[in-house]
Amino acid sequence: MRVLAVIGALALIVAIALAGFFFGGYYSVAATAEEPEFISSLLVRTRMASVAHHATDKPPANFNDPANVQAGARNFKQLGCFNCHGAPGVEWAKFSEGMKPDPPDLKDIVGGRTPEQLFWVVKNGINMTGMPSFAKAGASDENLWKVVAFLKKLPTVSEADFKSWTEPASAPTP
Ligand code: HEC
Repeated sequence: MRVLAVIGALALIVAIALAGFFFGGYYSVAATAEEPEFISSLLVRTRMASVAHHATDKPPANFNDPANVQAGARNFKQLGCFNCHGAPGVEWAKFSEGMKPDPPDLKDIVGGRTPEQLFWVVKNGINMTGMPSFAKAGASDENLWKVVAFLKKLPTVSEADFKSWTEPASAPTP
């Protein structure tokens, strides 16, 4: 009985100390604050597992069509993804350097993600990071699948490709 009482008292003291630490304002929410390595790897594992578990929607039949990939490049530009993630020949917005977690260079990670996983992330966003839900921002599933088709091809998209796919063809000279 005494042992249980001591454990209970200790648990109470720890709870009060934690509440004091967090609600007293001592924890720093600064984007410049470093967290212990085990916390960041825990968060990454949680994200990977969560996305893998939830990503069940299947790509449409025309997923790999070149027209789809090119339309995806235009959507990628219009939706503003390049501000945080860059694009072939397009600079990242300076503010992306101040984000934590920092937005990844997508061409380096898309090989290790399925289309289903990429779609889920772009549609739903990632809570407590700067990654927005583009469904909530008004984009349709159809347009987001096009973005994903473009993402899967990203490692092989040249600067010239991206430019020609996203810039309106110059008006023919009269
Ligand atoms: C305001 C900045 C911002 C914008 C705009 C943004 N993202 Fe992100 N994105 C992030 C951040 C930050 C992360 C990293 C989240 C993390 O580490 O958990 C991320 C993560 C991702 C990931 C997951 C990467 C992985 O490792 O699995 C994908 C895919 C992605 N973004 C695609 C996009 C696409 C496509 C768009 C445009 C439709 C977009 N993002 C727009 C900030 C942004």
